[in-house]
Amino acid sequence: MIIAFVQTKGGTGKSTLAQNIAFSRTVRKAFGSISIVEMDPQKTLHKWWQRRQDNGHRTTNVSFTHISRTEKDIILQELEELEKSNDFLVLDVPGESISKFHTQFACAVADLVLIPMRTSTHDEEAFEDNLLPIIKRIMEVDRESRNAFYVVPSFTHPLVKRQNIIEYFHGILPDYIHCLNATFSFGTVFENYSRSGNNLFEYADSVKANRKLYEQAKKAINEIETIAEAIITLR
Ligand SMILES: Nc1ncnc2c1ncn2[C@@H]1O[C@H](COP(=O)(O)OP(=O)(O)O)[C@@H](O)[C@H]1O
Ligand SMILES: [Mg+2]
Repeated sequence: MIIAFVQTKGGTGKSTLAQNIAFSRTVRKAFGSISIVEMDPQKTLHKWWQRRQDNGHRTTNVSFTHISRTEKDIILQELEELEKSNDFLVLDVPGESISKFHTQFACAVADLVLIPMRTSTHDEEAFEDNLLPIIKRIMEVDRESRNAFYVVPSFTHPLVKRQNIIEYFHGILPDYIHCLNATFSFGTVFENYSRSGNNLFEYADSVKANRKLYEQAKKAINEIETIAEAIITLR
């Protein structure tokens, strides 16, 4: 199975979600072998993975691949190879305002396309102008892809009810774009933990002695697991 985090606008939570969904208990229980596949030339996750290696963090069934090639056929071949040795691929796609090659590619190949998006006018306008036309084109040639596109409400306020946010997105999205039954709320924990090559789960373990930080991390983990469960349910 291939899932992709896609959103032409930058800074909406794609890489953070790709990173943590791959390591979630839910996904690791459901799939024997998982790979995070980064397509972003900025190499955000590649650098993080390097820090993981340097600091000796190992996770048995989660691997990482950076794809730097930009030829469609070659990337397809690389993904086919990865699918032979992995049950679950998580694509981290760059934010792209021009060309949008990776966005188009990922929307076409993924079984499930997850679109992290804030309840903000800027995100909504960017989505409508840049991503929606791509999705519409794909749907014209492949009617089956009608069930493949899901918004993940991101950077939501922790105190706003999930159901209200989901209803908000139902109200503004066309009927062929769905909303995941989970939200990714704003949390300072995401700004800090990956500097040492940790993932969220390892970070939580490392701050166990600090009650406040540990509670924060545990809340974030619960939320990641809920998102992972919602994703697995769609498979
Ligand atoms: N839920 C969150 N709450 C607060 N900050 C977040 C959250 N998710 C990600 N961030 C931070 O926001 C920035 C952008 O996130 P990132 O995942 O890199 O977005 P994208 O890949 O869409 O550009 C990063 O600095 C990241 O640490
Ligand atoms: Mg990114």
